[in-house]
Amino acid sequence: MIRISLDEGVQTLRLDRPEKKNALTGAMYTDLADALEAGNENPDIRCHLICGQPEVFTAGNDIGDFLQYAGRVAVAETPVVRFLRALVRTQKPLVASVDGLAIGVGTTLLMHCDMVFASPRAFIRSPFVDLGLVPEAGSSLLGPQLMGHARAFELLCLGNPLTAEKAERLGLVNEIVDDNVDDTALACAKQIAAKPPEAMALSRQLLKGDTGALSERVEEEISIFADRLTAPETIAAFQAFMTKKKA
Ligand code: COA
Repeated sequence: MIRISLDEGVQTLRLDRPEKKNALTGAMYTDLADALEAGNENPDIRCHLICGQPEVFTAGNDIGDFLQYAGRVAVAETPVVRFLRALVRTQKPLVASVDGLAIGVGTTLLMHCDMVFASPRAFIRSPFVDLGLVPEAGSSLLGPQLMGHARAFELLCLGNPLTAEKAERLGLVNEIVDDNVDDTALACAKQIAAKPPEAMALSRQLLKGDTGALSERVEEEISIFADRLTAPETIAAFQAFMTKKKA
């Protein structure tokens, strides 16, 4: 589930499914999308903070859900896709606190954030290709822009993990926080929320630039991703994970 609270202009979205390493279900994506969209409308929400649990930000999309989707549902209408679109359209600044595992969409959503804080135990990994999939959330565009093609390839195609230190070097993480990373991230979110909101919105928009190409890339990725969900190598990888066997 997602625990949502509002304090001093900061809407905190806490991923809370620790027994499954915060793997994201359809219901969780729906809550996240609702909350991000609410932020666009509600002037009381001036900043979003997304955080997880000790040792786990999120293990990414629930792989059981992926197996259910394969060939049975219109992927473009699933909650995960609604969330990805909401992420691109989010108008309020987004701060993340990563204390541990950040896998799959747990990695790629960070590329949309305005500030990212990580604990030294952050472990950032995107095993898309290992699962027979392709990068999502616009990461195939944002990743190379952020860190250059070769490093984005290593992260998004090779699936090599990033430590907190390396993620900071690559510009994905602003700061490594030794103790209470959530507190530091919340303080930053409150600092953002206390700024003049119109100037903040305009400034952020200038930095983000035209998001047309990003939206297009997200849709292109979704289309390829949807096809891949029915590929035999993908289904084999999902089933291997679900039955804990090596593919
Ligand atoms: N989808 C569904 N369930 C998941 C999950 C996911 N993405 N990630 C973890 N879980 C579940 C496990 O199946 C396990 O459930 P169980 O207790 O009913 O068996 C539980 O969460 C704990 O995970 P476990 O694998 O036992 O923990 P671990 O500490 O050994 O490993 C991970 C943690 C995150 C490294 C490992 O779970 C993993 O690789 N998960 C998949 C990550 C992934 O590929 N995500 C999709 C990216 S597109």
